[in-house]
Formats: sequence, structure tokens, C-alpha cells
Amino acid sequence: GLGGGGSGSMTIIPGTAPGFPPFETKQGGEIVGFDIDLLSAVVSNTDYELESWKDFEFSSLTPALKNDKIDVIAAAMTINEKRDESIDFTNPYYSADQAVLVRQGASSPPSNFAGLAGRTVGVQEGTTGASVVEKQLVKPGKIAQSKFNTYGNYVLAVEDLVNRNLDAVVLDTPVARTFVDRRAVTIAATYETGEKYGFGVRTDADDLTKALNDGLEQVRNGGKYEEIRDEWFAG
Ligand code: ARG
Repeated sequence: GLGGGGSGSMTIIPGTAPGFPPFETKQGGEIVGFDIDLLSAVVSNTDYELESWKDFEFSSLTPALKNDKIDVIAAAMTINEKRDESIDFTNPYYSADQAVLVRQGASSPPSNFAGLAGRTVGVQEGTTGASVVEKQLVKPGKIAQSKFNTYGNYVLAVEDLVNRNLDAVVLDTPVARTFVDRRAVTIAATYETGEKYGFGVRTDADDLTKALNDGLEQVRNGGKYEEIRDEWFAG
């Protein structure tokens, strides 16, 4: 990636972490979703060209970027200070909070985030959902470490919720709403975090970051952003 120069076009390798619908999922071996379509549209407005997508577990994306296995992360990744210390982000392209997902018809579901105390909770490793549960509930001893379960992706966590191995899953609101549409689960509470997603880029790739920001602005101004959003967030 980031090769080329000279006469050829500069290619970049995109990386994502499927299992986070509708941002990225695997459909018959192919990676599809809002992030996939958005980054493709953004890059089509630049001098760069996308190579084929590589998939990783979410927690492996930043190392993959730093080790040059990929050139850009498009994985509904929240821009935050800690991550900003090791990678750069484009301007934000989507907003989210955290949701508490429970089984449909669960008896006495938590009525707010604090109500998760004493319950068995699942999260995806390395996510903002994982860190908010850890900081607010596990560290202060409100949830025992043994009742705090981390998964490689949220599809597995929701599966364990449906199978009654968990009381709740904590995850980004837009993804929680997608699981509500697809599985026998419901949102019991939300927790406002005001997260914003950005594409992740290496700190030494300022030209790419700038090109992606320009491309994103064009996608927003030209109406393409709404088109892609409506396709993946119907209803
Ligand atoms: N927005 C959350 C974060 O940045 C969750 C992202 C998970 N993304 C994924 N593709 N699994 O931590």
C-alpha cells in the first residue's frame, strides 16, 4: 500500500473488523456495509485507489495499521484521545452513544447503565463499550471480573445474550438498533458518550489524511453521504 507514485496511481489497503452491522459485515465471504461504501465513495474523489479489504479483529486493527499491513482503518472506530496518541483520524463521519442490549421479554432488565451492577455483561474486546463498562462498573467492583465477558466481535456477544449466557451486551447505539431488527433483543437503556467515528490513518501519512478529508467533504456536499446512509440505515 501507499506505493505507486510515478505514473501509476497510489493504492491503499483498507482494513476493517466485520461483525458490526450495518457498518461492516461478511456476506457470503464478501465484506459489505456502510463503512465499505462510504470509504469507497470518499477514495473515488481522491488520487488514491483502494485495494481489496482485509479483515481483522477490532483490537488488531491499530497494530495492523502501524505495521503497514493496512493503510486505512474503516471500522466505526471512535476518535478518542488515547487512540489519537498512536494514530491519526480523519474528520468525523458518524455519531454514536452506548446502548444496553437485553433479551426481548427479559424480566427486570436494567433501567439505566448503573443498573448493570451485579449482572453478566458482554462487550467486544478493545472497544469503547468495553472500556466504559470496565471503568464505570468493573473497576469500582460493581460487576465482578468473572461476569465481564469480552468477545472477538459483537455477533458472538449477541449470540451469547440470546442463548442466556449474558444478561446484557453494551455496544454502540446504531449497531444495537440493527441487532434489535435482526434478533430477539431490545435496548433497555442508553448511556451518552457522544462518540464520533473517523477513519484511522498512520501519523506519517498526512497527504492521505488530507485527501480523505477532502474526499469526505465532497461526499457530504454532493448528497452521496445521505444516499449511502439511507441504504444501510433504512427504517
Ligand atoms: N465505536 C466503537 C469503538 O471505536 C466500536 C467499534 C467496533 N467496530 C467494529 N468494526 N467492530 O471502540
